Amino acid sequence: MQGKKSLKYQVEPGGSLNGTLRVPGDKSISHRSIMLGSLADGVTEVTGFLEGEDSLATLNAFRAMGVEIEGPHAGQVSIHGVGMHGLHEPEAPLDLGNSGTSMRLLSGLLAGQGLAVTLTGDSSLSGRPMMRVIDPLTRMGAIIGATETGTAPLIISPNRHLKGIDYPLPMASAQVKSAVLLAGLYAQGETTVTEPAPTRDHTERMLQGFGYPVKRDGSRASLVGGGALKACRIDVPADISSATFFLVGVSIAPDSEMVLEHVGINPTRDGVISILRLMGADIEIENEQVVGGEPVADIRVRSSRLHGIDIPEDLVPLAIDEFPALFIAAACAEGITRLTGAEELRVKESDRIQVMADGLTVLGIEAEPTTDGLKIRGGRITGGCVESHGDHRIAMSFAMAALRASGAVEILDCANVNTSFPGFVHVANQSGLHIRQSEVS
Ligand code: S3P
Repeated sequence: MQGKKSLKYQVEPGGSLNGTLRVPGDKSISHRSIMLGSLADGVTEVTGFLEGEDSLATLNAFRAMGVEIEGPHAGQVSIHGVGMHGLHEPEAPLDLGNSGTSMRLLSGLLAGQGLAVTLTGDSSLSGRPMMRVIDPLTRMGAIIGATETGTAPLIISPNRHLKGIDYPLPMASAQVKSAVLLAGLYAQGETTVTEPAPTRDHTERMLQGFGYPVKRDGSRASLVGGGALKACRIDVPADISSATFFLVGVSIAPDSEMVLEHVGINPTRDGVISILRLMGADIEIENEQVVGGEPVADIRVRSSRLHGIDIPEDLVPLAIDEFPALFIAAACAEGITRLTGAEELRVKESDRIQVMADGLTVLGIEAEPTTDGLKIRGGRITGGCVESHGDHRIAMSFAMAALRASGAVEILDCANVNTSFPGFVHVANQSGLHIRQSEVS
């Protein structure tokens, strides 16, 4: 993952988006399928797996710990589970690239295994806060070293003596919740997490799918350590976070209509639909069904006139990865959009409040960052050159902004789009965006 070539996007202004598209598999569910499949008894068959760099980092980490994994071949993966105690100590540090989910969930999953493991990542991941997982895991008895500033590399020492805790999450984070629950699988007694607001619940759902009892009571999720996982089949839905670029692109572009197929619409993830509808978007949910414990549907979206809103704070955790794209929708909306209660955006793959405000300003849009959000006044988008800071979601969001720009939009540092949306440039072009990528030396 080191020494990646720098990529830039050049997006011509204007155009419409049309057609039917299945975006790649859900990143969160893909990570978890490898993790739980590896610890299960038997062979777990996964379809729709995201072949992006983040979920492949998780896959490679488990291979390095002795798990036989076939694929991915066109989204199919077979994981030969080694059981709860069958992982081997890896010979080298596990390089998790850009993936916060891999690092945080693995620290919980590995904390009580009795293995010595070091977790490393790229420069973005090495700057992200890890005390949020180290704190509760240490309370459970884990021994995890980090840098003085609480960042990776994380050094996990062998230990098999975790005890369950009752942990109130200080922030609405599914990664922290999942890290504690995964450590809880190896802890004595019961482990409970209470969340301040609902966050994505794929870990709880998938544990249940693998036959592991999880008690859920409002904002609390509990499990008792010492059980086992039974292999199962997992059909990974298309990622609503990747579909979001098209939901926004179609909404802001003229004469556009798309159907995004088989998208995961888990209610802990569907905030983007609620927010866009509040802004006046034309979105219909079709063919709703439940697949492997996760709600899935086709989403039809058409061009619309958007207007600015005050984004309700209770929707923030339900759309946490979608704000870069929603800021582009706000830039194209009539009036002012205000986001508050979203300080978590400052510690994502980049500081998404600052980086989006800077890029929008370059493109002629008034954007005022605050500590916990952003105020955007809709207006005319000009052409210009923006920095994505290696953040996949920033790069794809600004690509969609070109649909309403008066000049070409150039976006720098786009190679990390491959972490979550391999093939983005190809499918965006097929749908009607005029986007080219080139290597920068
Ligand atoms: C994720 C949780 C979220 C999200 C990330 C994936 C997960 O992070 O932003 O892209 O798979 O659990 P936080 O838990 O930090 O909010």
